[in-house]
Amino acid sequence: MASSMEATGFFLLFLLAFCSCIHNIFSTTTDLISTNQFIIDGETIISSGGTFELGFFIPRGSINRYIGIWYKQILPHVQTVVWVANRENPLNNTSSAVLKVTRPGILALLNDKNETIWSTNTSRSVQNPIAVLLDSGNLVVKEANDNSPEDFLWQSFHFPTDTLLPDMKLGKNFKTGHEVYLSSWKNDNDPAPGEFTRNIDPTGYPQALTKSGTNVMARIGPWNGLRWSGAPIPLLECCFYQFTFNEEEVYYSFSLINSLDLTRLVLTSNGYIQHLKWVEWTKRWHTYYNLPADYCDTHSLCGAYGSCDIDDTPVCGCLEKFVARYPQQWEKGDWSEGCVRRTPLNCKKEHVFIKYSRIKLPNTKYSQYNKTMTLKGCRQVCSRNCSCTAYSSLDISNGDKGCLLWFGELVDIRKLSEGGQDIFIKMDSSEHESEAGSKTKKAKILAVIFSLLMAMILLILILLWYKRKNKKLKLKEDFELPLFPLLTITRATNNFSVNNKIGEGGFGPVYKGVLEDGQEIAVKRLSRTSMQGIDEYKNEVIYIAKLQHRNLVRLLGCCIQGEEKMLIYEYMPNNSLDSYIFGLDF
Ligand SMILES: *[C@@H]1O[C@H](CO)[C@@H](O)[C@H](O)[C@H]1NC(C)=O
Ligand SMILES: *[C@@H]1O[C@H](CO)[C@@H](O)[C@H](O)[C@H]1NC(C)=O
Ligand SMILES: *[C@@H]1O[C@H](CO)[C@@H](O)[C@H](O)[C@H]1NC(C)=O
Ligand SMILES: *[C@@H]1O[C@H](CO)[C@@H](O)[C@H](O)[C@H]1NC(C)=O
Ligand SMILES: *[C@@H]1O[C@H](CO)[C@@H](O)[C@H](O)[C@H]1NC(C)=O
Ligand SMILES: *[C@@H]1O[C@H](CO)[C@@H](O)[C@H](O)[C@H]1NC(C)=O
Repeated sequence: MASSMEATGFFLLFLLAFCSCIHNIFSTTTDLISTNQFIIDGETIISSGGTFELGFFIPRGSINRYIGIWYKQILPHVQTVVWVANRENPLNNTSSAVLKVTRPGILALLNDKNETIWSTNTSRSVQNPIAVLLDSGNLVVKEANDNSPEDFLWQSFHFPTDTLLPDMKLGKNFKTGHEVYLSSWKNDNDPAPGEFTRNIDPTGYPQALTKSGTNVMARIGPWNGLRWSGAPIPLLECCFYQFTFNEEEVYYSFSLINSLDLTRLVLTSNGYIQHLKWVEWTKRWHTYYNLPADYCDTHSLCGAYGSCDIDDTPVCGCLEKFVARYPQQWEKGDWSEGCVRRTPLNCKKEHVFIKYSRIKLPNTKYSQYNKTMTLKGCRQVCSRNCSCTAYSSLDISNGDKGCLLWFGELVDIRKLSEGGQDIFIKMDSSEHESEAGSKTKKAKILAVIFSLLMAMILLILILLWYKRKNKKLKLKEDFELPLFPLLTITRATNNFSVNNKIGEGGFGPVYKGVLEDGQEIAVKRLSRTSMQGIDEYKNEVIYIAKLQHRNLVRLLGCCIQGEEKMLIYEYMPNNSLDSYIFGLDF
């Protein structure tokens, strides 16, 4: 009897040892939990690439135990927990707590009294469920041989705590109604849900919001096709950022350019959104980006139509053409009541849209959008509806695309030194005149008129020149009268030397000259002051040409160049002819 009991005891011991041996082999090498394995305190599973590890942990400064996922690679330096299962139900006695998978497909954490502390749920059942820790940090419950993500029964990426990992979608599925959002730890020692949440709020046009309860604490503006409208520029070079919004879902995610990088986005227990990157040589997390980055990121700090500019003192100012609603209060630094238009807007009267640039777009809670509408169409729609206060382009990634309309007051506007975008705010039409934009418009109109005038003058000049040239040619054609170059005449007359001057007629002086071939000529230089036009000149030529056949005096040709008009005659030594030439006064 005793020996039989001993034998049984020995066998049981052996079995236990064997089991625990098998168990240990699995726990140190595996990335999964199946129905016949489980995890107890001190054991972990490690993702296949060795990036993440899952197991029990105690936050620093706490006595409670939790199931969590942390970076395996950096564990020797720091335990960075990215996900916690039982954040609301800590274990205070883990001596016999287990994490196990049961049919039909549930991962559950049981305490020492065999009570379920935490569990996943599923709408489907499978034959051979397992829980796997993927190398992305996603803990997945699925059918053992089905790797299709659509068939996952449950995944931790759908139930994050305070951390957004690469390729995790923050947002909402409109079909299932399930929302994935971050919720901060209570404090550094307690992963229980804290004061803050970060989600993609789908009210109006979707935007990312940090909230404390229902109060919006910080915002970074709607997505504009490239980035969040208020995001700092340049964007972080670590990652690709994606925002998807359609009938099925809205979500934001980022993925790594270098898959070996360790980066995460975390909502801290004091309400900051931090984008962190592990820097191997300092063995520390480096903060890439922090929201709120400064005082100006405080939601609606400057009230309606107030604009926050961190480089200004005080940081709050009214948008141009707006004035403080309560100036005394405003002067004292109480900006909560914001600003109003200095010229009130009367919807029944005419209005204009004034462009404000480099703006972090206002809260889109009371907004509407149309992805296909043009900016012009957008303006028309806003113009027609009295409650529409402003509009902007929805997507600036490839020119202006789509339409975003605001209804009601505009809050949480920020002026950025880099980035931001244009918004067009509805104003009374009288604001148009003094607008800087209209000044440049006027300048543009003036420039157009000026260039048109210049073009006309140029055209007239060209026409005149062409006409003159034609006339010269015509003259030549009409009389077959040789045209002497001016140079020939100046040479022949010793540059109109006084010695060559043989007289002065009514129209100007007459010079004697000798051409290069020895022929003597008389040159009648029509005075510049004679105001004799080309037509009169032509008449003279015609007249002389008529006279010519009487052989009184022979006209050899003419010379027209610039202001100079000359007639060239054969020189007759006869004095009587001289007097004739001088007397050629018609
Ligand atoms: C341990 O946790 C259980 C619930 O799991 C609770 O009832 C009990 O009071 C806790 N004990 C201590 C010492 O915190
Ligand atoms: C923890 O649980 C074990 C098993 O249920 C029990 O024996 C032990 O007394 C518990 N310890 C405490 C401190 O509650
Ligand atoms: C724990 O509960 C399960 C059923 O939920 C039962 O099968 C098992 O025997 C229980 N174990 C202990 C130690 O009570
Ligand atoms: C899982 O549980 C949550 C609440 O804990 C519930 O909202 C959800 O509908 C459940 N899902 C399924 C598939 O049962
Ligand atoms: C969006 O604008 C387009 C073009 O202006 C129009 O045809 C369409 O009906 C609008 N969509 C909605 C939902 O208003
Ligand atoms: C203006 O837009 C608001 C919000 O969409 C709508 O409720 C209202 O009926 C519109 N008014 C007119 C006159 O179209």
